[in-house]
Amino acid sequence: MRRNKTNWRPCPDRIRTIQGEVHVWRCPLNLSAKRAGGWYRVLSSDELIRAGRFLFKKDRVQFIVARVFLRVLLGRYLRRLPGAIRFTYGENGKPGLSAHSVHGPFGFNIAHAGDWIVCAVAPSSQIGVDIECPRRGLDVLLLGDSFLSDGEQEALRSLPVGERITSFLACWTRKEAYLKSMGKGLQVPLDSFEVSVRPSERPRMVAIDGNQDRAEHWFMEEFAPTQGYAGAVVAPGRNWKVVYRDFALESRASHEKMSVKA
Ligand SMILES: CC(C)(COP(=O)(O)OP(=O)(O)OC[C@H]1O[C@@H](n2cnc3c(N)ncnc32)[C@H](O)[C@@H]1OP(=O)(O)O)[C@@H](O)C(=O)NCCC(=O)NCCS
Repeated sequence: MRRNKTNWRPCPDRIRTIQGEVHVWRCPLNLSAKRAGGWYRVLSSDELIRAGRFLFKKDRVQFIVARVFLRVLLGRYLRRLPGAIRFTYGENGKPGLSAHSVHGPFGFNIAHAGDWIVCAVAPSSQIGVDIECPRRGLDVLLLGDSFLSDGEQEALRSLPVGERITSFLACWTRKEAYLKSMGKGLQVPLDSFEVSVRPSERPRMVAIDGNQDRAEHWFMEEFAPTQGYAGAVVAPGRNWKVVYRDFALESRASHEKMSVKA
């Protein structure tokens, strides 16, 4: 079985994009409501409106923590204060940065699941990441009928029962990371492309619209934000090196003058 442990490295003092490198950052979301409350002021008015829409406090706090993490992290790449980051949104909701904020290619994408958030950053706007927390009792064959391509379903059925849920979640994160890289979300039919499923195979795009050559142009790597989770990062091209890093929001945040906005 593949699936090696991900090597999460400490945060370096200087953060910058490097040609050919994807950085995947992880940050825990389980911080107290009291701490998150103090961070409200770095959010933009549309983020505050979104935060206010959450029915449950836990979800609201996680949304705030996720946005603060994103702003603090991107601020360190761009040498800006967290409150000065301006987001734009694609047609299907993919967040990006306004053109005047960045010089040169710069892309990011976030995913949250359970108590974790991850953010992938790369010198490419077509970066996509997804994570899923462990689930028990999923009827993956039934889910596969609705969401997987024929080849993926077949691969799933061929596996021993005990390997199916993990393999389904790995497959799912690969598919979603690809959708997120293009920013089109569920507009792209889930059976129009195929990814590898079996634990014995390396994570890869197998075919796009039945075309294996097109699939060759996509890079894919798997990781785990923590034990038992599934994760995948996808980017166009082939020769990416992925560096996995920890981000401790609390200690970083306390060093920032977070209330200042541009
Ligand atoms: C993007 C999408 C795949 C997210 O899936 P999810 O598992 O619920 O959530 P994840 O944690 O993986 O990712 C959420 C983050 O992805 C980012 N995101 C949102 N839309 C995105 C898109 N179209 N492409 C890439 N990333 C997107 C956001 O940063 C979001 O976090 P935020 O809401 O805190 O800002 C899903 O919501 C989607 O498909 N949206 C597109 C809308 C769409 O196509 N609608 C048609 C419905 S038929």
